[in-house]
Amino acid sequence: MERRTATPTTPSLGPALIVKIRRATAADNPAIAAIYNDAVRTGIATFDTEPRSPAGQRQWLARHDRRHPVLVAVVKGRVVGWASLSPWSDRKAYDGTAEVSFYLQAEHRGHGIGRKLLTELVARSKPAGLHVLLARIAQPNVVSVHLHESLGFERIGEMREVGRKFNQWIDVHLFERMVPTSAGAAESGTGSRRSTGEGS
Ligand SMILES: CC(C)(COP(=O)(O)OP(=O)(O)OC[C@H]1O[C@@H](n2cnc3c(N)ncnc32)[C@H](O)[C@@H]1OP(=O)(O)O)[C@@H](O)C(=O)NCCC(=O)NCCS
Repeated sequence: MERRTATPTTPSLGPALIVKIRRATAADNPAIAAIYNDAVRTGIATFDTEPRSPAGQRQWLARHDRRHPVLVAVVKGRVVGWASLSPWSDRKAYDGTAEVSFYLQAEHRGHGIGRKLLTELVARSKPAGLHVLLARIAQPNVVSVHLHESLGFERIGEMREVGRKFNQWIDVHLFERMVPTSAGAAESGTGSRRSTGEGS
């Protein structure tokens, strides 16, 4: 979480905030990139330091599939946030492991949309045949840590000062959630994939 927006008291977006969560399409690429690139420029949640190009964004979305979905949150017809399950590694034995990422427009944070996105990702992990979800969370990020822990993720490791952004060293904590799949389900994957996650 970027520290500039760490307040729990966010102005109301109205009494009946209707949020639709759906899979992303190619038409969502500009909105996804705009949200991500704002986080690249202004926060420590991602360790990218250069904005993602339009071509890079298209390639990123194309590397995701039904098993590794990208979801968008839509409010009044506009994409205000996104979340993804990305392959953790291209090494075959990691096939049942995916990494969680989620980002919201700054003005839409603190209204429960992040929780909706993360809940939906977790729900989709079981039918996808995934075995483990991982999240790398750059510290401090009390909101992201709270949401992950409340949805069953457990802090399993701390990597000290592995990142440097905005002229400071940044710790990354690793969180894990086991997916209650049936035996062998995690072996029914789609083959070798490149890592495409955006956790720090
Ligand atoms: C992280 C992020 C996706 C969360 O989405 P969000 O819509 O802002 O989060 P929500 O409103 O759904 O939930 C916020 C939760 O944090 C809690 N919270 C808010 N401020 C808090 C604080 N200071 N300390 C502890 N908990 C806090 C809220 O009470 C809420 O919990 P609840 O659902 O149990 O009531 C969003 O804030 C974001 O885009 N941040 C910048 C990018 C980022 O950090 N991405 C995650 C990378 S790991």
